[in-house]
Amino acid sequence: MPAPSARRQAPGSGGPRRVPSVRSGRRGDSGRVSFRNDQLRFLREAAAEHGDVFGFRLFGMPVIVLNDPDHIHQVLVGQRHKYDKEVLMYKMVRPVLRNGLIPHPGGEPYRRQRRMMQPAFRPAVAARFAEGMTDETARMLDGWRDAHRPGDVADLSREFGELTLRITTRTLFSAQVGETARRFAEAFTEANDILGRFFRFPFPPLSVPTPSHLRLRRAIRRMDACVSSFIADSAGNTGNTANTANTENTAGGTDLLGILMNAVDEEDGRGMDLRQLHHEVLNIVVGAYETTTNAMAWTFQVLAARPDVESRLHEELDRVLGGRPPGFEDLRHTPYARRVVDEVLRMYSPAWQFMRRAREEDTVGGYRIPAGANIYLNTYLLHRHPDHWEDPDRFDPDRFTPERSKDRHRHAYLPFGAGERICIGQHFALVELQLVLMTIAQRYRFTIPPGQPPVLPRPLTTLQPGGGVHLEVRPRSAAGTEAVAGAAADPGDPGRAVPEGGRR
Ligand code: HEM
Repeated sequence: MPAPSARRQAPGSGGPRRVPSVRSGRRGDSGRVSFRNDQLRFLREAAAEHGDVFGFRLFGMPVIVLNDPDHIHQVLVGQRHKYDKEVLMYKMVRPVLRNGLIPHPGGEPYRRQRRMMQPAFRPAVAARFAEGMTDETARMLDGWRDAHRPGDVADLSREFGELTLRITTRTLFSAQVGETARRFAEAFTEANDILGRFFRFPFPPLSVPTPSHLRLRRAIRRMDACVSSFIADSAGNTGNTANTANTENTAGGTDLLGILMNAVDEEDGRGMDLRQLHHEVLNIVVGAYETTTNAMAWTFQVLAARPDVESRLHEELDRVLGGRPPGFEDLRHTPYARRVVDEVLRMYSPAWQFMRRAREEDTVGGYRIPAGANIYLNTYLLHRHPDHWEDPDRFDPDRFTPERSKDRHRHAYLPFGAGERICIGQHFALVELQLVLMTIAQRYRFTIPPGQPPVLPRPLTTLQPGGGVHLEVRPRSAAGTEAVAGAAADPGDPGRAVPEGGRR
């Protein structure tokens, strides 16, 4: 465990202190880069200079950054009743995600909804979907046999986007994946593109009927119609009417939608109505899509850059699987694959920023947090905190061995958040990421095309690999030895400190 640095501020005596402010607009006296020009560098420089609590203006809005795991624990867990999601980041997406879990402000209505949905996301349920995950991945790889000759460059960001969407729709709608699921995926892709552009420049608000916002509303209506049709099909299969989601429906028990249709609140015995079900399906797909896609893309970019990590992974896969396809049971026997996933989620944490509003005044680490303050948490910053991570810019899966993890602060690593708003899909995501990694790495290896500039994190709604991940693809031989010997000539380690001038 690294030695604590002097960056941690000791609480002073004599009442809570004011949070120091950092100018984010222009280069200050320190020569610091502005937030607008380089968000990640701005945050790291500000934290290095001011420590774990500082304020700045995020697109004109004053926010307080908390980067000490104890302080983060207080906001997300210990004093969570003092904080909610009534902040711009979530208000902005409510016209789209509506009453779903992601932007829900919080309180009892939120807790009821989460309570009802939680059983559908238990680890045991994620295990049931494992076969669909490996199946879809294998199908993608079978397609590569004809699409790519050895050494061809593949657009892995695009491939993984399609794969994630196929896995998510199959999990939600199971056997019904067909024409309706395809229409759902198409509408979602269109909605997601419009939303992505909106977040780059979030004006005017989504409630204003510009041509692209109208297209977004139409895409959402198409998705809702698909969900209604899935529900009607399931209800038809069992002779139920599907006006409310909670019926005696048993056909739905096998896919996620079916489980949600059957969900009831243990306290009042009632289920979700159709409108709420529409909202939650969209929240699930939005929550799952970009996060998982980017995590997969980063994983293979890093493996291509780090043949040492890749060959240890190959050794584990070849030893444990001996050439047969991986399944859920193998996850327990492939700790190195899991550590690779954990380290990707540390360095390239896809959900890299989230926010809360202080509902009332609080004191955090000796600082006064006024009622109404916007709290800004950034896992890119936290996951590279030098007090908690040794050599934080180095990609090192072994930092997640039990021995090296045991003394680490629990809240120094939060790829899925913490407390009652922790990602509901975390088990699903971890099973999916590990199984997809194992299925692909067992059959293919990747190298960086000669002359490709380093791929740098691009901080958008999620932390994306700038310019996308484009790698040379080569099949591995069945015995696990390489079809094409040799490693990438110039790995261009994306895990080293973020250099300037790469692709963002
Ligand atoms: C690598 C993949 C993923 C990452 C890094 C991730 C990260 C996160 C984080 C950090 C939050 C909490 C945000 C906050 O506290 O403000 C969250 C919430 C959420 N995520 Fe994920 N997520 C991932 C995959 C998924 C998947 C696969 C699903 C669905 C199957 C999902 C559905 C959701 C939902 C519905 C919420 C809102 C939960 C609530 O507030 O009750 N996520 N996610």
